[in-house]
Amino acid sequence: MDKSQLGVISLKNFDLNSLNNFTCGDKSLDRFIRDEATSFEKNLFSSTWIVIHENYGVVGYFSLCNSSLELQEQERMVLDLDASKNKLRAPSILLTKLAVSKKLHGKNLGSTIIKIVTEMAAKYSALMSARLLIVDAVNDKAGFYEKCNFEYCVNNKKDNKTAKMYLDLLHI
Ligand SMILES: CC(C)(COP(=O)(O)OP(=O)(O)OC[C@H]1O[C@@H](n2cnc3c(N)ncnc32)[C@H](O)[C@@H]1OP(=O)(O)O)[C@@H](O)C(=O)NCCC(=O)NCCS
Repeated sequence: MDKSQLGVISLKNFDLNSLNNFTCGDKSLDRFIRDEATSFEKNLFSSTWIVIHENYGVVGYFSLCNSSLELQEQERMVLDLDASKNKLRAPSILLTKLAVSKKLHGKNLGSTIIKIVTEMAAKYSALMSARLLIVDAVNDKAGFYEKCNFEYCVNNKKDNKTAKMYLDLLHI
């Protein structure tokens, strides 16, 4: 999927009636964009962005909010921070939602959207300092984020249904 064919528009400027029959195949993510995202937006709990393809119309969406991540010693070392500093929290941007049109799964659209998210996050970070882009990946989707160069946080519990993962924004 070519990034140049995609545009991103804030939910604030988007008419939800134009979603038409968009579905990503996950009921809770489909419900979120139709019924909940606007309220999250108004209350400044998350910002949602609609992804539009020049030929196919709405092909996905993602939501972002501020967050932070307490770094373990190994992560402090990997990020070249003071490894002895316990309780160090990295300012972060949390990717709270990501959904791609079911019709287009497996065509590198999700990974292209992650590139767009990463570029937006890096721009934001230049203004407001966020070191990491983080995500709570549902376990069967963690492989997708691995492909997009996210790392697993070290304190993930094995029995969790989600894996916390991060991408370093420093050199983006
Ligand atoms: C998860 C999702 C965003 C992936 O988008 P996509 O456009 O299908 O993914 P891409 O085609 O960009 O895949 C990029 C790479 O990740 C791999 N990948 C995709 N989904 C994967 C998964 N669930 N597990 C492991 N690898 C996966 C692809 O095989 C591809 O690998 P390659 O580069 O070696 O070919 C999409 O399937 C989706 O919207 N699912 C429903 C909603 C959802 O589950 N959101 C995420 C919640 S955490």
